[in-house]
Amino acid sequence: MCGISGAVGLNNISELLFEGIKNLEYRGYDSCGVALMKNNRILVKKDIGGVEEFYRKHNVIQLKSKIGIAHTRWATHGKVTQENTHPFISSDGNFAVVHNGIISNYRPLRDKLKKEGFNFRSGTDTEVLAHLLEKFYKCSRNVEKAFIKTLSVIEGTFALAFISSYLPEQIFCAKRESPLMLGIGDEIKFVGSDFNAFIDHTKNAVILDDGEYAILSRDAYVVKSILSEEEVTKPITKIEWDSETSKKGGYPHYMLKEIYEQPQTISNALDLEPSGLDGVVDMFSKARNSYFLGVGTTYYVAKYAKYIFSQLSQEFFPSISSDEFQALANVDKHSLVFCASQSGETFDTLSALKHAKSKGARIAAVVNVMGSSIARLVDKVIIQGSGPEICVISTKAALSQMVILTLLAMKLALKKKVITRKTYNQHLQALRELPEIIQGVLNERSGFIHRLASKYSASRNWLYLGRGVYYPIALEAALKMKEVAYVHAEGMPGGFLKHGTLAMIDDDVFSIVFVPPPEDKVLYESTLHSIEEIRARSGFVLGIHFTPQGKNQDLYSEELILPKVPPLVAPLVQLVIGQLFAYFTAISLKRNIDKPRFLAKSVTVA
Ligand code: BG6
Repeated sequence: MCGISGAVGLNNISELLFEGIKNLEYRGYDSCGVALMKNNRILVKKDIGGVEEFYRKHNVIQLKSKIGIAHTRWATHGKVTQENTHPFISSDGNFAVVHNGIISNYRPLRDKLKKEGFNFRSGTDTEVLAHLLEKFYKCSRNVEKAFIKTLSVIEGTFALAFISSYLPEQIFCAKRESPLMLGIGDEIKFVGSDFNAFIDHTKNAVILDDGEYAILSRDAYVVKSILSEEEVTKPITKIEWDSETSKKGGYPHYMLKEIYEQPQTISNALDLEPSGLDGVVDMFSKARNSYFLGVGTTYYVAKYAKYIFSQLSQEFFPSISSDEFQALANVDKHSLVFCASQSGETFDTLSALKHAKSKGARIAAVVNVMGSSIARLVDKVIIQGSGPEICVISTKAALSQMVILTLLAMKLALKKKVITRKTYNQHLQALRELPEIIQGVLNERSGFIHRLASKYSASRNWLYLGRGVYYPIALEAALKMKEVAYVHAEGMPGGFLKHGTLAMIDDDVFSIVFVPPPEDKVLYESTLHSIEEIRARSGFVLGIHFTPQGKNQDLYSEELILPKVPPLVAPLVQLVIGQLFAYFTAISLKRNIDKPRFLAKSVTVA
């Protein structure tokens, strides 16, 4: 996804625009650009590279203006080049536009515009918007009408904003599927892809819906329906986050900060309003079949839910990657589809939910961003309250979602009388101990994990093994290693190894095994068998386990011993180790921790 920021005010907005687009950089950072109005003429500066690098190189802050738009790009169509960087300006220089999404019919539109004499300088879909605005303005001599006409011919998804020298004190913007919201300040108005674009300056947001457009000036704004062109009354949404929470707070990276915030975010999850959770449990109990969805990290959260719900309720709950849902799932009015999504904007998950809804299914979600598209689409939403997760790599949001899903699974099992109130209370006690357990692991094991990661940072091939509910933990921990350290790591079920993958074991293949506590007897013993299989071939095994020192000392090449914990929360503690191992490996390899190459925080395009 990309980041859009815009501001129009009484005074110079250049620095506000920089802050806004900088706060959105986690949405994509291949290239950056701004369009500013100066003496009723549009000035565009843009280049490849991150926001800070761009602003410094082009000395943009010195370009004073009272109105402007900015963009930080995650490339979908067209390579990462200066020409393909937003904003795009019309041939006559009177329109500059930024966009997040995909104009799916851009090719026929571009071909037609080229035949009409418009020259294209980029390989992007977005550039058609600038030329369409120019073309339709020439017909109507009215910016708003040109905008509506442009919106009527484009297909696909968009969040877009533009400025025009014909109306040099106004910003025009609209959305379809990609997120866009307004920041309403005194004598200043903002537009942004999410709250972070203006959180430092106003907590009053107006969240645009599909089919709406808005016109902003420094002392007024109006939202209208694209179809009827009638004004739409929109509520002001108060933003709960404070800008400080969105900052690094003394940590070297957001990733480490957010890993260390986990004791707090787990407590927040456990303190959520019970009625909100009970409403979702009720949906599960009434559904004839239920599915868990997510993509990337949240697919592994969904997979974790599959295990914890199936185990506690003694009934099978499937999980499906959102992008595979429509091909696989068979839903109807008796179905429930539940998704996890940190951003609440992921295209694949949104599409799957809309498909489920179209089939009459009930839909619910746990998300971290209030007011997000998924939060507003579903029948019931759990806002997990983990605070802004700025690092592209998801850690605290995923762990909190797993805690919430554990709680939901416990409540459902109790409601179905599969577990007793006594067992429920034991599990609840285990969850309530989790923040302190994780605080202890962070305080006492981080140094050891750092040393291990440094020692093995040259290893280029890892197998991550886990059995049962430890399998999604292994998958998620492996994804962390791939995302932040760019190291190949394959997560797989422990029992899978002997059916083929074992042939890979040699000096260049390292295995990390998430070993359950001995109380989880069946999983524990079968996991040890997997380790024996590797060791019998002289393979390297790093064992992460809860067994006292010395009990299986010749079993591991390296071992990290964790304190004894309740079996229910052991997988979640193991995940924190996986997060730290990936983080410290990435440090050793000097990776760009919070903005890994080629990634974006959430992909809002197909
Ligand atoms: C990917 C992100 O694009 O989307 C992952 O890089 C994330 O970190 C995945 O897990 C799903 O995003 P979300 O917001 O739906 O949880």
